[in-house]
Amino acid sequence: MTSLSGKRLLLGLTGGIAAYKAAALARLFVKAGIDVRVVMTEAACRFITPVTMQALSGQPVYTDLWDARVRDNMAHIELSRDRDLILVAPASADFMAKLANGEANDLLSTLCLARRIPLAVAPAMNVEMWENAATVRNVARLREDGIILMGPAAGDQACGETGMGRMLEPEELFEAVAALLGPRLLKGKKVLVTAGPTYEPIDTVRGITNQSSGKMGYAVAQAAIEAGAEVTLVSGPTALATPAGAVRMDVRSAREMHDAVMARAKASDIFIAVAAVADYHVVGEKSHKIKRGTGNLFIELAPNPDILATVAALKKPPFCVGFAAETENLRANAQAKRKHKKIPLLAANLAQEAFGRDDNALTLFDDKGQHELKRAAKIAIARQLIAHIAGMLKKR
Ligand code: PMT
Repeated sequence: MTSLSGKRLLLGLTGGIAAYKAAALARLFVKAGIDVRVVMTEAACRFITPVTMQALSGQPVYTDLWDARVRDNMAHIELSRDRDLILVAPASADFMAKLANGEANDLLSTLCLARRIPLAVAPAMNVEMWENAATVRNVARLREDGIILMGPAAGDQACGETGMGRMLEPEELFEAVAALLGPRLLKGKKVLVTAGPTYEPIDTVRGITNQSSGKMGYAVAQAAIEAGAEVTLVSGPTALATPAGAVRMDVRSAREMHDAVMARAKASDIFIAVAAVADYHVVGEKSHKIKRGTGNLFIELAPNPDILATVAALKKPPFCVGFAAETENLRANAQAKRKHKKIPLLAANLAQEAFGRDDNALTLFDDKGQHELKRAAKIAIARQLIAHIAGMLKKR
């Protein structure tokens, strides 16, 4: 028995070379006790046979909108009604375009349109197809419609090219589905997350910022949503898409981030400060572009408010989690930071191995000691962090 035993999944396959990975994925689901019903498009059947998927799922595979095996010939309705989730893996560019436009001209697309349950897609396509303006538009539309995107990843492609568009590996997709179908560890909790860099203006066009991409903070927000929390994401400037279901507040400077956080902190159960906040701002920011001169130019800096420490010092603070990016002496510096900020949990990472990357490794420091989260994709690390937080809250 696993926490996924008895969960019901509809696994859709569309045409793409990554369809072979769906076979391994179906095996992982079945091994975890998930009931897997497979639906394949005509193009998917060119890459992998329904017989293979039938053998691995242990159930008949459906390919035809007019399948008379289903009650009243209503396959497009009936096949999803007893399911908890639809996952389309691989999801081709063509299928995503169909979903974005509400087209329904085969069994899988009609099932998706007629669904009452969450829909997740795992894109798989050539890098140029992924980066094409039409696909970019479709992906944005899918996100707006609340469809969950799992991946893609970057890497070598079957066509010989390299770049974004590879389907996630079966193990990664399994983890993502497990997070959606598994126990809702933070159900009913309000979680406030900060993410990304801050930007401290010097004049109208120049400023001081840092290399935070926001990926870690957005992954934490995503993992908290998956765990059933209501999430507010206070974000510095990033190029990332808002995780479906999060309320996002965009800010620029540390002082703006401070104000946005303080307006919500008292009503939050958990505060996770992932943002790389500037410690100083420029005194006397110029309202025009500074002209080049011949002499030295001096910028005076004044300290910014410490957002995390201020929240932790509230009379009834939310459960506070800090992050620390250190370049050396990770353990000593992180422990000192946790003490100084008076917070129950601090997640430390090596700055040079965390900023901007897709993966990360964290060392968690709490009253019980030190816990290592081994290097993995940021979303996988974020899920482990959320599970750790939920465990600490349970014991309180
Ligand atoms: O965004 P990515 O590219 O994915 O990179 C992720 C990350 C490296 C930015 C992230 O994992 C991380 O480590 N964030 C903390 C960065 C940092 O250096 O924090 P700090 O040591 O300056 O601050 C410690 C804690 O206090 C942090 O939780 C920070 O959000 C908070 N803080 C800091 C200063 C300030 N004025 N207010 C704060 O709340």
